[in-house]
Amino acid sequence: MKILGANVVPVSFGLKTLKEAVDSAFASYAKNYKDSIYCIGSVLGPHPFPMMVRDFQFCIGEESRQQFLEMTGHLPDAVCACVGGGSNSAGSFAAYLNDPVDLIGVEPLGKGSHLGDHAASIAYGEPGSMHGFRSYMLKDKDGNPAPVYSIASGLDYPSVGPEHAFWHDLGRVQYEAISDEEAVDAFFKLSRYEGIIPALESAHAVAYAMRWAKTHPYGSIVATCSGRGDKDVDYVIEHYGYGEDHQF
Ligand SMILES: Cc1ncc(COP(=O)(O)O)c(C=O)c1O
Repeated sequence: MKILGANVVPVSFGLKTLKEAVDSAFASYAKNYKDSIYCIGSVLGPHPFPMMVRDFQFCIGEESRQQFLEMTGHLPDAVCACVGGGSNSAGSFAAYLNDPVDLIGVEPLGKGSHLGDHAASIAYGEPGSMHGFRSYMLKDKDGNPAPVYSIASGLDYPSVGPEHAFWHDLGRVQYEAISDEEAVDAFFKLSRYEGIIPALESAHAVAYAMRWAKTHPYGSIVATCSGRGDKDVDYVIEHYGYGEDHQF
C-alpha cells in the first residue's frame, strides 16, 4: 500500500483488530467528511456502502461464471468463498443468485467454537447492530461486539455484511465454518499441487472446496481466491515451516 503511495495509519487502541480499524476509519470520516471519501473494504457500514462494495466485487462472480461456462459448457454445482465482512463472497454469489447453483459462505472457526476463539458471526452470532448496519453479530455478555479471532487477519470481524444475514435467512446461501488448522492444510495443498499460494483468508474457501469434493466426486465447485498469500508466507513459515512435515 505504501509503494502505491498510501499513508498507512495503524490502529493503536482496543484489540487492534479489523473492528477497531473500521471504528477509526468512521471516526476519521466523520471528522473530515467535507474533504474526504470513505472507501470501506467490505460490505459493511450504512447503506449504500454494502451495496456499492458488493457491486464493485461483482466482477469476481461475473467473470468466474463466464469463464466456467466457456471452459465446461455448464454452470458449477456450487460456489464457495470465505466470509470476513463478506465482500468477496457477496461479489462471487451475486452473479449466481438466480442460477441453480449452491452458494456457500465459509466462516472462520479459528481455534474452536468458544466465544473469542473464532469469528463465525452467522454460525454463532445473534441479531445485532454495529458500524451503522444490522446483521448477525457475535456479542459479549453485555451485548457489545465480542472479541474475535482467526489465523486470517482479514476474517476477524464480529459481524457480517447485512445482505449475508438476508441470504442466510432466505436459505439462499449456506454458511459453513473452517478451522485455522484446515485453512493451513489448504494453504499448503493449493501451493504444492497448483503452484498458487493463497491468502490465509482464501485458504478457508479452498479447504471447504476440498471437504465438499470428498462427497461430490463428480461435482464441480468454484472456490474464490480472494487474495494472494504473499502477505502470509512469513507467518506460515515461522509457525508451520515450509510444509516439510505436512501430510500431502
Ligand atoms: C485476502 C482477503 N480475503 C478475504 C478478506 C475478507 O474480507 P471479505 O469477507 O470482505 O471479502 C480479506 C480482508 O481483509 C482479505 O484480505
